[in-house]
Amino acid sequence: MPLLRCLNVTKRFGGLVAVDDMTFDVHKGEMLAIVGPNGAGKTTMFNLINGVFPADEGPIWFDGVDVTRFPAFKRAHLGLGRTFQIPRPFASATVQENIAIGGMFGAAGKEISVDEAMEMADQYIQLIGLKDHRDKPAGGLTPIEKKLVEIARALAMKPKLLLMDEAMAGMNPKDIDEMVAFIKQIRETENIAIVAMVEHIMRAVAGLAERVIVMHQGALLVDEPTREALTDPRVIEVYLGRPTEEMNA
Ligand SMILES: Nc1ncnc2c1ncn2[C@@H]1O[C@H](COP(=O)(O)OP(=O)(O)O)[C@@H](O)[C@H]1O
Ligand SMILES: [Mg+2]
Repeated sequence: MPLLRCLNVTKRFGGLVAVDDMTFDVHKGEMLAIVGPNGAGKTTMFNLINGVFPADEGPIWFDGVDVTRFPAFKRAHLGLGRTFQIPRPFASATVQENIAIGGMFGAAGKEISVDEAMEMADQYIQLIGLKDHRDKPAGGLTPIEKKLVEIARALAMKPKLLLMDEAMAGMNPKDIDEMVAFIKQIRETENIAIVAMVEHIMRAVAGLAERVIVMHQGALLVDEPTREALTDPRVIEVYLGRPTEEMNA
């Protein structure tokens, strides 16, 4: 059994089929990218996996458990971590406190004390390189620093699978390269599977993922190893025939 299995998963909003019959697996320790144009259904797919709302159809299995009807907090306890497209830290809480909150609400549902959570937060502050900001309010951080705190908060929940929504949106190429290296490092040190959603940055996809799922109009267009996916004519067509620069960068 794979770590995550989505079988014919569908979500409708009124007449709109936002996620249409999606079937795919994620294996333990795997690095997968989900890409697709704006509106393809990527965020909705993430919301179905981590339980923001339930799927209309299809079971979702995580780590051997049918989680289709589980609320988000129960899925988090099982080891489903998530970062959001727009990080919203508790602005007046410190960086350390924000990360500790992850430790308190995750950790496979185990009760841990505030002190233990604060200690755990320190490890992750080290990992994201924000030691100098530890006691500062998270509201004053730069967008990239907020993103790093968001990742640290999710990691403090000790996930087996981390879903990263638009981890690199709005970043310049240098920051993208750094973030790609960082995400790969996390995968190694934490020994977890990561599904990163990337809207348009093929440079990041190529550097990051072993396998790529392309969504188009809610449905699965291709599920292939990265090199094949990025040169697949169907994928190039969805991206309006812009294979050269972006796709090969
Ligand atoms: N809560 C919602 N209510 C109604 N429609 C939604 C909702 N969330 C997303 N949609 C619609 O579902 C489609 C897929 O959106 P989304 O999953 O955000 O795509 P992506 O993340 O790939 O850009 C879009 O047409 C979007 O407008
Ligand atoms: Mg989205």
